Amino acid sequence: MKIIVGNQKNYMTIKDTKNFLDNVRLTDNVIICPSNIYIPYYIDRGYKVGLQNINVDNVITGEVSILQAKSLNINYVIVGHSERRNLGETNEIINQKLKSLKDLNVILCIGEDENEDLKEVLENQILNCLKDINIDNIIIAYEPVYAIGTGNALEKEKINMAVTFIKNIIKENYNKDIKVLYGGSINSTNINELNSIEILDGFLVGKSSTDPIEFNKIIEVVN
Ligand code: PGA
Repeated sequence: MKIIVGNQKNYMTIKDTKNFLDNVRLTDNVIICPSNIYIPYYIDRGYKVGLQNINVDNVITGEVSILQAKSLNINYVIVGHSERRNLGETNEIINQKLKSLKDLNVILCIGEDENEDLKEVLENQILNCLKDINIDNIIIAYEPVYAIGTGNALEKEKINMAVTFIKNIIKENYNKDIKVLYGGSINSTNINELNSIEILDGFLVGKSSTDPIEFNKIIEVVN
């Protein structure tokens, strides 16, 4: 079964959240990463929940710690989203984080920007983020930066090529298989096409995971 991760960022109000919870049909392969302030609502409804980011350092205002995640049995965390990288999160910082996250399932985001060399960026991100890391708890989300939030998902052939490249690098360097998701402007219109990419293990859905009608359609197609 393909994995569907909903990255709701900070889009939703409490009204939107309640509307979502009342109208989205839960299936076992769905993980929602809500805004931190709404997490308990999702847990109460039996959702698998993930964090959008985590702090593995000391006490820092505004952050969420591993201890707090564990106290709510939260088992997933997104790390290295391009919006966090834009705030200064480097591959080295991500690598340090991953060393502390052995007990959580990590969704590690990688992806090149429009004018960058895909292979060079992906290889660099993979090898530096995953340096000396046991990758057993890691899922990679391939999110080309220029496809995020634009309404334009990447073409099937390009996704296929990038994901094959990622899986090959992992195989060569870790001698293991890894799950790879695609993310970037997934919606109810393009999900049919995206779902036909056999090499993919699932999807990381941003904006469309905040709209119950859109998200239900995506779940229906994938399942
Ligand atoms: P999007 O976001 O689906 O809104 O493009 C994806 C993401 O940022 O993870």
